[in-house]
Amino acid sequence: MPTDRLEGATVVLGVSGGIAAYKAVELCRRLVDAGAEVVPVLTASALRFVGAATFSALGSERARTSLFEDEDPIPHTSLGQRADLVLVAPATARLVGSYAAGISSDLLTTTLIATRAPVLVCPAMHTEMWQHPAVQENIATLRRRGVAVLEPESGRLAGGDLGEGRLASPEAILAAASELLGGAGGGPLAGKRVLVTAGGTREAIDPVRYIGNRSSGKQGHALAEVAARLGAEVTLVTTAPATAPAGVEVVPVTSAAEMAEAVLSRSDSAEVVVMAAAVADFRPKAALSSKWKKADGPPEILLEPTTDILRELGRTKRPGQLLVGFAAETGREELLSSARRKLEDKRADLVVGNDVSAEGAGFEGDTNAVTLVTATGATELPLASKHDIAAAVMDLVAARLEESARPGPDGAGPG
Ligand code: CTP
Repeated sequence: MPTDRLEGATVVLGVSGGIAAYKAVELCRRLVDAGAEVVPVLTASALRFVGAATFSALGSERARTSLFEDEDPIPHTSLGQRADLVLVAPATARLVGSYAAGISSDLLTTTLIATRAPVLVCPAMHTEMWQHPAVQENIATLRRRGVAVLEPESGRLAGGDLGEGRLASPEAILAAASELLGGAGGGPLAGKRVLVTAGGTREAIDPVRYIGNRSSGKQGHALAEVAARLGAEVTLVTTAPATAPAGVEVVPVTSAAEMAEAVLSRSDSAEVVVMAAAVADFRPKAALSSKWKKADGPPEILLEPTTDILRELGRTKRPGQLLVGFAAETGREELLSSARRKLEDKRADLVVGNDVSAEGAGFEGDTNAVTLVTATGATELPLASKHDIAAAVMDLVAARLEESARPGPDGAGPG
């Protein structure tokens, strides 16, 4: 993973007080090696694990440890304003909690709240703490606000325990930092607006029941996250807003009708629309206004078709706009023919064919196996993380956009 975007970037490196603070020493050195201007900021408890002198020696500037030590009367705002990126590694449960709650109790939390730069938080803590609902809710809150969170890895923890909670590797942190900096300025999708849909829609039967499907939204969210990291301005219309990724505008919806409205009112200004959502094809003709009682016997539910959003997008597609659809099938054989049919019928430029019955692929897991179908051919992507699948899809999208922007033989763009 390239780290060249770190060159010349001002990075505030926040270190909070966990045993993994010693790993931030190496991280500081690697950031400086990559060309970043590193300003270390240590919390009081970080100083119990590591020394400010080490960071002063390795960083580009002396380490800051307090709101009040400086000649600069307002270091909290000046650091935040100067930063191209604020990176916190390790982030303890307490740091994550303070940041999510907006509590500024020291220089690091004040800088986080005062900055407009992208923020990357790299948590490290014991498994029980990481999995605690309070921590997970705080992480979800930060993500919803556009903070990038690099999840901890599994491995050996302090005290010899094994489990999830170990600080991500320096390589992963550097790569994520570099991608975030790319998203702020460069990247192959810079200047492009990408609209992504995700999750399964819910069609109300009555106030408590609905017709739904098993889509988790994970593949769509991964697509939005990757597009943002590649520099695009991303809007994510999703039925699963709680797990929305960093740096994207989130539009929460529930039903197919709400999704249609949200997408069709925004699609005009998007260069790319990715319909990864599992949109219900049918909905109850009339949702009941009060709860259906068991004593009334089994209800007969009359269904009517929903708007086919992708078809509508295809019908109104403007020159140069790129449409990506999904085809979910339960069987390898039908997959290709169904994806090709959707490509033509709905005027999509790319259809991601998904055999949801295959081992490890489909709705709820973290992995997927897909076939990318375009007018010129099909490429199979074997089982990989949904993030890697998203990266392959977005690479193809970026290549297509670049192709269509290239001048034709007569000097004019293909439009
Ligand atoms: N889609 C949509 N609006 C709908 C239904 C589907 O935009 N009301 C989009 C999905 O987001 C997906 C693609 O269309 O990108 C899936 O097409 P669809 O025809 O719904 O596929 P399936 O239901 O999987 O296929 P089938 O025709 O086999 O029912």
